Amino acid sequence: MKLAKWAYDLAEAMLAESLPDRWAHSQRVYSQALTLVPALGVDAELLAAAAIAHDVGYARDAVDTGQHMIDGARYLRDVVGADPRLCSIVAFHTSSPWEAAELGLSDALGEFGPAEPELVDAITFCDLTSSPTGQVVDPARRLVEVLDRYGPEHVVFRAVSAARPELLNRVERVQQRRAEAAQESVS
Ligand SMILES: [Fe+2]
Repeated sequence: MKLAKWAYDLAEAMLAESLPDRWAHSQRVYSQALTLVPALGVDAELLAAAAIAHDVGYARDAVDTGQHMIDGARYLRDVVGADPRLCSIVAFHTSSPWEAAELGLSDALGEFGPAEPELVDAITFCDLTSSPTGQVVDPARRLVEVLDRYGPEHVVFRAVSAARPELLNRVERVQQRRAEAAQESVS
C-alpha cells in the first residue's frame, strides 16, 4: 500500500499536532476504508489514501477558500502533486457539492470532476461512520451532531440539511456492497 502510506504520512504531518481531533477522526475514516477492501478491489488503496487525507483542507497550510474539500484537493494537486483521482475523491467527499453551491464555489469544485460515484459513496460512508474524535458512529446520528454543532445560520448546516437524504442513500449503497462482497467471499 505505497500510495496509502504516502498519504498517511502527509496527513499525519499536516494534522496530528495542530488538529489532533481531526487526525483521530481521519485515522478512523482510514480504518473504515480498510473494511471496504473486499468491496472495492483495485480501487481499495486509492480510497484508503483519500480517506486518511480527506480533511487536510483544514490544515493551516491548505486553507484558502474556507471550503475544506476544495482547499484539500487543491493542496493535494498543486503542492504535493497527488494522483488526480485521489484529489477528486477529496474534493467531492460527503456534502461538498452542496457546500460549494452555498458558497458560490461550484466552478472551483468542477476543476476536480467528474466525480466517481462509487468512490464518492465509499468516502462518504467512511466519513459519516466516524465521529469527530475517531469513534465508530451511526451515520444518521453523526449528521444530527453536525447540524447541532454548526447551527441554522451556518453554511454547513444548510448544505448538510439539503444533502442528508442523498448522504444516507450513499451509506446504504455502500453497506449493501460490503455485505455482498462478504457474502461472495464465503460462497
Ligand atoms: Fe471527515
